[in-house]
Amino acid sequence: MWGGRFSSGPDAVMEEINASIGFDKRLYRQDIAGSIAHARMLAETGILTQNDRDAIVAGLAEVEAEIEAGTFTFSRALEDIHMNVEARLKEKIGEAAGRLHTARSRNDQVATDFRLYVRDCIDMLVAQIRTLQAKLIERAEDEAETIMPGFTHLQSAQPVTFGHHLLAYVEMLGRDVGRLEDARKRLNESPLGSAALAGTPYPIDRDMTARALGFDRPTANSLDAVSDRDFVLETLTAASICAMHLSRFAEELVVWSSAQFAFVRLSDKFTTGSSIMPQKRNPDAAELIRAKVGRIMGALTSLLVVMKGLPLAYSKDMQEDKEVAFDALDALSLSLAAMTGMVGDLTVNREAMRAAASAGFSTATDVADWLVRQAGIPFRDAHHITGQIVALAEQKGCGLEGLTIEDFKFIDQRIDSRIHKVVTVEASVAARSSYGGTAPANVLAQAARWKEILTGK
Ligand code: ARG
Repeated sequence: MWGGRFSSGPDAVMEEINASIGFDKRLYRQDIAGSIAHARMLAETGILTQNDRDAIVAGLAEVEAEIEAGTFTFSRALEDIHMNVEARLKEKIGEAAGRLHTARSRNDQVATDFRLYVRDCIDMLVAQIRTLQAKLIERAEDEAETIMPGFTHLQSAQPVTFGHHLLAYVEMLGRDVGRLEDARKRLNESPLGSAALAGTPYPIDRDMTARALGFDRPTANSLDAVSDRDFVLETLTAASICAMHLSRFAEELVVWSSAQFAFVRLSDKFTTGSSIMPQKRNPDAAELIRAKVGRIMGALTSLLVVMKGLPLAYSKDMQEDKEVAFDALDALSLSLAAMTGMVGDLTVNREAMRAAASAGFSTATDVADWLVRQAGIPFRDAHHITGQIVALAEQKGCGLEGLTIEDFKFIDQRIDSRIHKVVTVEASVAARSSYGGTAPANVLAQAARWKEILTGK
């Protein structure tokens, strides 16, 4: 492509370190779409003849078909997807292929291709997140009244409903969608026509190519356009946060599916056995989701470090943007699919959850609240009295619901038999009906709200 100035070809090692075709071949569709839009614009503005345009467009369609059919031979000597496609086009249509690269450079070409690719990834991830949310909402509705221990410090804190817990992840995933959609808005400008770095003297129409490729507008500064990778960084940031959410949920599934918790049973489809211990059902999918965040955040860190300190405009360092991003976005997509499968398939052990929820004097706060509201006792004193009640139950080896009215009165005369109702886990969750609280009625209302959001109502 630049033989004019060179007397020898590249060293084999140079070719190896320089080539990106091994990974950027997956940009072929975006590359060809970009080239078709460019060729049409060149013809429209009189830079290219109609005949050349037609040959180029038809030839590119054939190249795309060859790649799709698996009959295309990629060449490392041709470095990257852009030159591989163009070289094949030349074989097909001859001289006209050489006119396609008028008024553009690989610098604006790769920036365009990669934006289009990341945009497709964002759309796919958003759709996958929505599917996972829908599954979580469906399960949350079924489990609106299922009581489980709520934890702080992984110590039993207060009873919550399982539906409420599931909807917590729906909220997180909702913010993930927001971040991806927000990144998409800033991504959606077309670098095409920025050329190498300074723009071009040809009378091109950048609005036309921007429109043809579904961009909102062309980028306004050619130096920025070819050297900006914010769109990948933002997407990887959103992906990292989403992966972190999935990792937290995965960790809970690992803990909950253990024999010691036995809150849930993961299906055979998402567990593996052990080659030596016949009883084992290992939560491998959950563990791998828990781990994937490592490479996703790694990709973000990696690209941030590549970009820091790069002078304007394009430097070859930026070719290192793609492998890590592909890997990270693939990993998130796979994690979302696996999580959706696991959530859809898991069996809930309501009895085990309820039993665990009543253990550990989890309704002690409800007793203190009752003392405040029914006996007018200041909360600090009520807290102290309740502490004595818990100590008594502990001494007697029972839960709060095992105490008799005499026991309660022994601690404080002002308590009456209404307290028995208060100490049940059902009463505890039902009472937490403040907006955003865990009460079953709230779970159903929030599930309904989310269903409207998801159906776009
Ligand atoms: N393969 C290159 C990349 O991925 C394409 C751009 C090459 N531009 C250049 N001036 N060498 O970044």
